[in-house]
Amino acid sequence: MLENRSGVFFIAGLFFFALAFVSQAVVPILMYRDQPELTAEQLVNPNVRFQFEDLAKRFPEPFKAAFGEVPANPGPEREEWLNKRAAEALRVGRKAYTGEACWHCHSQFVRPVSNEDRRFGPVSEAWEYQNELQRPVMFGTRRVGPDLSREGGRRSNDWHAAHLFQPNALISGSPMPSYKWYFDGSPDKPNKKGLSLILYLQWLGSWLESYPYYEDYKASPLRLPEAKSAAPAAAPAAGEGE
Ligand code: HEC
Repeated sequence: MLENRSGVFFIAGLFFFALAFVSQAVVPILMYRDQPELTAEQLVNPNVRFQFEDLAKRFPEPFKAAFGEVPANPGPEREEWLNKRAAEALRVGRKAYTGEACWHCHSQFVRPVSNEDRRFGPVSEAWEYQNELQRPVMFGTRRVGPDLSREGGRRSNDWHAAHLFQPNALISGSPMPSYKWYFDGSPDKPNKKGLSLILYLQWLGSWLESYPYYEDYKASPLRLPEAKSAAPAAAPAAGEGE
């Protein structure tokens, strides 16, 4: 078999296929098999909760129509109510994101090349994808628009509403389609899917200490998954990431 060229190529092909399978499938499975897959409920961290309550304040009527009335009295009941609704919204938002094929134009993976971390934020690590909302993973294959894996906290909820309603009203010449069906006629009236999609966008990267990147938001103490080893790299200063 090794006496002719095609035989050599055939064996080399098999070897490289096996090598890729080991490095891209077997090794990651062995490294992460002990790490539990987080559910949407476990993904509701203080940053997500902040954004969810912010949505309730900014869009009171649409929020009430979508999720019901937020219990007025502080206490465990209110906490539980908010956490439960926020988890539901993350699931609905992810469904809209996949259904709309946002991943066709946006990646969710900051690669360790080309100074991508200077543009988008810390390089992505495998543990970040070990959760329900990344089934299947939303790595994406193309970047017509920017990577979104650190989008959370970069823009306000109002900005996202206006942008989803009509992207080129904010970014002139934007090729991103407008998603008017997530609103009842105007950008200040997002419907349930619209509110959920905005929460999903605010969730992206909310598990990092570099969250958020904007305004005078007060950082919340984060509950981070235990398997996280090294501290994430410093986030780009506001404005630098554009
Ligand atoms: C045809 C390709 C395309 C599709 C499909 C698309 N986008 Fe975009 N998106 C872009 C481009 C290009 C930009 C940069 C210009 C702009 O901000 O409008 C962008 C920008 C964004 C931004 C702003 C990022 C930032 O901080 O500057 C967000 C958030 C976003 N898109 C979310 C979405 C969501 C959610 C969907 C699906 C509902 C979606 N996009 C679908 C192309 C697309």
